[in-house]
Amino acid sequence: MIKMDAERLDIEKTLGALTLDEKLRMLVGDDMWHTFGAAELPRVRMSDGPCGLRMTDGGPSALPATLFPTPSMLANSWDPALLYDVGAAIGAEATAVGVNLLLAPGLNIKRTPLCGRNFEYYSEDPYLSGTLGKAFVSGVQSTGVGACVKHFAANNTETLRMYSDSVIDARALNEIYLKPFEIALEAKPAAVMCAYNKLNSEYCSQNEYLLKTVLRDRFGYNGVTLSDWGAVRDRAAALAAGLDLEMPYNAFSYDDLAYALESGDITEHDVDEALRRLLALIDDVYLEPYGDFDADAHDKLAYFAAAGSLVMLKNDGGFLPLTKDMRIAIVGEYAECAPLQGGGSSHVTPLRSVSPLEAFSHRGIDIAYYRGYSADKKENARLIEEARQGAAEVDGVVVYVGLPAPQEGADRKDAELPPEQNELISALVADGRRVAVVLVTPGPVAMPWVKRVRSVLYQGLCGANGSLAAVDVLYGRVNPRGRLAESFSATARDTSRCDGLVVPYLESIFVGYRGYDRSSVKPLFPFGHGLSFSEISYDGMRVKRLGENRFDVTITLTNRSTRDAYETVQIYVSDRTGRVMRPEKQLAGYCKVFIEGETSTETTVRLDGRAFEFWNEAENKFSIPDGEFKIIAAASAADLRAVTTVKIDGDFTGKLDTPEGYAGDLESVSDDDLRALGVAIPEARRPVKGEHTLDSSLSDVGRTLAGRIAIRAVKRRAEKLPPEEREAFLANALETPLSAVAAMSDGAVTPETALGLVESANGRFFAGLKLMLKRSRSDK
Ligand code: BGC
Repeated sequence: MIKMDAERLDIEKTLGALTLDEKLRMLVGDDMWHTFGAAELPRVRMSDGPCGLRMTDGGPSALPATLFPTPSMLANSWDPALLYDVGAAIGAEATAVGVNLLLAPGLNIKRTPLCGRNFEYYSEDPYLSGTLGKAFVSGVQSTGVGACVKHFAANNTETLRMYSDSVIDARALNEIYLKPFEIALEAKPAAVMCAYNKLNSEYCSQNEYLLKTVLRDRFGYNGVTLSDWGAVRDRAAALAAGLDLEMPYNAFSYDDLAYALESGDITEHDVDEALRRLLALIDDVYLEPYGDFDADAHDKLAYFAAAGSLVMLKNDGGFLPLTKDMRIAIVGEYAECAPLQGGGSSHVTPLRSVSPLEAFSHRGIDIAYYRGYSADKKENARLIEEARQGAAEVDGVVVYVGLPAPQEGADRKDAELPPEQNELISALVADGRRVAVVLVTPGPVAMPWVKRVRSVLYQGLCGANGSLAAVDVLYGRVNPRGRLAESFSATARDTSRCDGLVVPYLESIFVGYRGYDRSSVKPLFPFGHGLSFSEISYDGMRVKRLGENRFDVTITLTNRSTRDAYETVQIYVSDRTGRVMRPEKQLAGYCKVFIEGETSTETTVRLDGRAFEFWNEAENKFSIPDGEFKIIAAASAADLRAVTTVKIDGDFTGKLDTPEGYAGDLESVSDDDLRALGVAIPEARRPVKGEHTLDSSLSDVGRTLAGRIAIRAVKRRAEKLPPEEREAFLANALETPLSAVAAMSDGAVTPETALGLVESANGRFFAGLKLMLKRSRSDK
């Protein structure tokens, strides 16, 4: 059955040759990473992920691979060509080991800076997320490997991720949360992975609106839909709603499907439809391992990707760039061990990696090093004092501060650095030292010292060679060129609540800079911000109408420095028609331009009608308001350089009132305002005795003796883990449906144990015990 190069699988013939039994079996994975290989069909192999290949073979860590900057950093490059190259490099590493489907990119919007998985996502802006995601998908698929975009949809926090209900109005859903998928699907990714959470009261894994109405009917997508790992609650309902493949293997699903088929809840037609897509995927992406990849070239790409993604947030007072004759002290424990990536399914075992201290030595730079603080909080007063004394002997100080690597499964609690790190910086600036700060955080943090330091460079989680690229920026070998793909706020906006079982998206379409534009609270650094060592001026803008609502926006840029530089021109549109509720402005195009020192250049960004659309709920489609729009060229969301007004011929000539709560600065927007947008907000509720099913979590069934014993065992296991991994481990173990725990715990919890826990929690103690004992007997 294994096809040769030009040979195509005859899908109808293959389908006809499969028995019903084989068909049902194929709708669930064979194990953790493969599809089921019925009738000698090859098994498609899947692996994460977004920052590099994470191919695991049962062991705790993955095979070594190139570690690229996290998507949150890559997005700061605003450079689709770079995303394409990184995608193609990861694809090449996948083909070499026989991975056929890459579980990336993640296209979820950064709704709150506290989301623990933001490091895997691109941006708060749907256009930027979608265009970068599309480029990454094209890069991966240029190698023959399939890309799987995820997590569809509205998976914007980690807290209770398997249960939480994202409650979103139709405009925000279509304009913000679905838009990145709509754009990236233009690159025809092989698969779409559904999210864990519910969207408007229905699990995404069985959400017909998402999987059929939006994905198939509106977006015209005909690739495979697959579940996030353990996201399926009711396999038959999921199939009926449009979910083709459940991953990973789940012992309950075959029976569920067989029963549903018998009782008529699903039909063989539903099964065949899903299988046609699955067979087409197998045909498209399956290949035996072939070729090798050039590890040196990928290592260089990881360096260039980082160099393009680091963001100079502040640079005053002529301290940076440093020169080699300056005596510099490096301070801060993170200079020894800066996190380079996050934890969880995206975690890569790096082929190579460089710490900040190693980076200075690679570049032959002599530095004095002082720890300054320590993660175990011991002796901080002494470490700060030692750093102060050391700093007195040199010309300036570079302080590395940060947070432990973020972990999939847990959100950040706040946006604070540990107090000792803030104290350290405050002490050094109080002594009158020249201080540059390098931030190695997964996202925005409060910077109480920001006005008193000379420079702040955001290194984030920048992969194998991010530390090297950062040193090159500090010394001016690289002219910084990253621009923030998210507003750098010090706190999560109150409206972007992210905890709890029910999460009303009160801010509606006003996410990120769209919200800040309405608010008196301003971010520390705005969306799109980033400095270079050069001054670039915008010397004119021409807007040429190409046809109906299509424009070429041409900007003249001048590099007034002697250094070569890059500028990221951002084009925003601002709806002045007054016909619908709108943000002050929204990103409609962008372009990263190289400009030689002391030269001028012109760059053109094309806008099409989609730049002006809004989601017209009454007509169930995007519409364009008729009237005037501003077109704005900007260096960031808060640094507007040129404006022109154009007349747009829209199909929408009516007027929709803005509900009262959304007319002002949004600070007091309430659940009722969201209801006024037509949204039902459900009650948060967990099952009680008598209601438990395999959808219950360990913490739901924890009141019973068996539940308490199981929780104790989980906690004992957590204690053996490194401190930064404990919280996420506990959240994942305690707040995951028992069916998924059984599927993914590698035999630690068998299906019988899971059923036994459910029986006990429902008050049928002996029936539960019997099931669990059956498990221990079969263990022997
Ligand atoms: C994550 C997915 C990932 C999958 C397989 C899940 O826990 O949410 O992003 O692709 O695991 O590792």
